[in-house]
Amino acid sequence: LERTFVMVKPDGVQRGLVGEIISRFERRGLKIAAMKMLVVSDELAKQHYAEHASKPFFPGLVGFIKSGPVVAMVVEGKNVVPLVRSMLGATNPANSNPGTIRGDFALDTGRNVIHASDSPESAKREISLYFNTSEIATYSRIDEQWLYE
Ligand code: GTP
Ligand code: MG
Repeated sequence: LERTFVMVKPDGVQRGLVGEIISRFERRGLKIAAMKMLVVSDELAKQHYAEHASKPFFPGLVGFIKSGPVVAMVVEGKNVVPLVRSMLGATNPANSNPGTIRGDFALDTGRNVIHASDSPESAKREISLYFNTSEIATYSRIDEQWLYE
C-alpha cells in the first residue's frame, strides 16, 4: 500500500471540519497511519511550500498555513496519492466538484481547507518533513479483506 501526506489547514480546523474530513478517508477504506495537531513554524511552512517560493501568493500562503493549528496525517491505501487528490477536488474551490472536500466546504483558493501530496515523490518528502518514522504506525484495518480483492 502507498502513503500520502494530508493536512487539514487552519481554516478547516477552526471551522470544525476535522472530524468530517477524517471520516471521509475512513469511510473510503483508507488507513490513518499517523496523525497529529501542530502549529506549523515559519521554517516548516516555507519548506513545505518551497515549490511556490517565487509565486506572488507565497507570503500569504505561508502566513495562512502557520496562522493556527493544523492536523497532519499519513494516509495509506491502494493508489492513495491520486485517490486522495480526487477526494480533495480542484485547487480553486470554484472549480471543485460537489462531493469533493473543497467542493463541499470551500469557496476561495487561499482558504481551501486541506492539502494533500500531488505525487509519490512529494508524499515521501512531505511525510518526512512532518513525521519521524517512529510516529508512523503499522497495523491492519479489520475490513481490509473486503476493501481489497
Ligand atoms: P495544496 O494541496 O495545498 O498543495 O494545493 P494544490 O496542490 O491543489 O495547489 P498548489 O500546490 O498549486 O498550491 C498550494 C496552495 O497555494 C493552494 O492550496 C492554495 O491554498 C494556494 N494557492 C495556489 N495558487 C494560488 C493563487 O493563485 N492564489 C492564492 N491566493 N493562493 C493560491
Ligand atoms: Mg500542492
